[in-house]
Amino acid sequence: MEKQIKRIGVLTSGGDAPGMNAAVRAVVRAALSRGIDCVGIRRGWNGLINSDFVRMDTSSVSHIINKGGTVLYTARSEEFRNTAGQDKALATCRLLGLDAIVAIGGDGTFRGALALSRRAAETGYQLQVAGIPATIDNDIGCSHYTIGFDTACNTAVECIDRLRDTMQSHERCSVVEVMGRHAGYLALYVGISVGATAVLIPERELDFERDVVEKIRRARLAGTTHYMVVVAEGAGNTMEISQQIRDEIGLDPRVTVLGHIQRGGAPSARDRETASRMGYKAVEAVSQNAGNCVIATQEGRLVVMDMEKALVMTKEFNMDRYNILEALTNNSSFH
Ligand code: F6P
Repeated sequence: MEKQIKRIGVLTSGGDAPGMNAAVRAVVRAALSRGIDCVGIRRGWNGLINSDFVRMDTSSVSHIINKGGTVLYTARSEEFRNTAGQDKALATCRLLGLDAIVAIGGDGTFRGALALSRRAAETGYQLQVAGIPATIDNDIGCSHYTIGFDTACNTAVECIDRLRDTMQSHERCSVVEVMGRHAGYLALYVGISVGATAVLIPERELDFERDVVEKIRRARLAGTTHYMVVVAEGAGNTMEISQQIRDEIGLDPRVTVLGHIQRGGAPSARDRETASRMGYKAVEAVSQNAGNCVIATQEGRLVVMDMEKALVMTKEFNMDRYNILEALTNNSSFH
């Protein structure tokens, strides 16, 4: 039987991403526009476990569309991984009378949401969950795009452009680490955008001679005297890679780890706009009793996907981009 949705909880969980605030704003405003109450759950799933929440009205989300981070705070909850934690969370959902939860985050966030909804169903409590993909890693299987990726790419590109200036002046090699513990999307997009000499990604097993030495060599033969090696966090140890460059080809590289700089900052227009549409769509989906779902992008369009199916989807890594990078940088000088 169709359930009338009266109250939605919204939370952000996992690593933050620029644009999360725009998504929170969209969920709150879209809910209110349908006469649905909205409660902000703070600090991810821990907020449900600890009854840490805030009533949201239209002004609670004023002036946040342009802000990085998340006004709801975020966390990775260990306690929520086990059923005891989920039961505490459910007790809060019941107490607050939540009919649905919109969870903004990555795969882990969605898995938690699904576990909670299933646990609720076992006790006869209908709790619908909707996921909004947000991570700078862009590594969610069901969605071509995740909120925060564009901003993080732009931030990394801006930083590397600065590095390039000094590397060029000193005719040096730079080894720069970008985020991506398990995924190389960020490294590859950034690498293409800065015209990197080499890009190392976790999806491709490192062959030092082929992937680094030969790339630098070709760049040198093409006349360049400075080199930019972009390393995804999960592709190898950046310090060791730098040392190996020193040992094997006698350069004196400088290492820069961009780290959490990439997770902060004002979201780009693309991230704000995508987050706004996803937030609106999530509320539309739950108010129409779409069931547990993820709001994903496929071929540039928003789609509402069954959460269970979405969670088993994998994203094929686009090696075409790697080939493009190779063609554009390695038979010519850096840039
Ligand atoms: O947001 C995803 C991510 O950026 C990964 O690429 C990175 O490994 C991880 O977060 C680090 O997050 P934290 O330091 O918050 O654990």
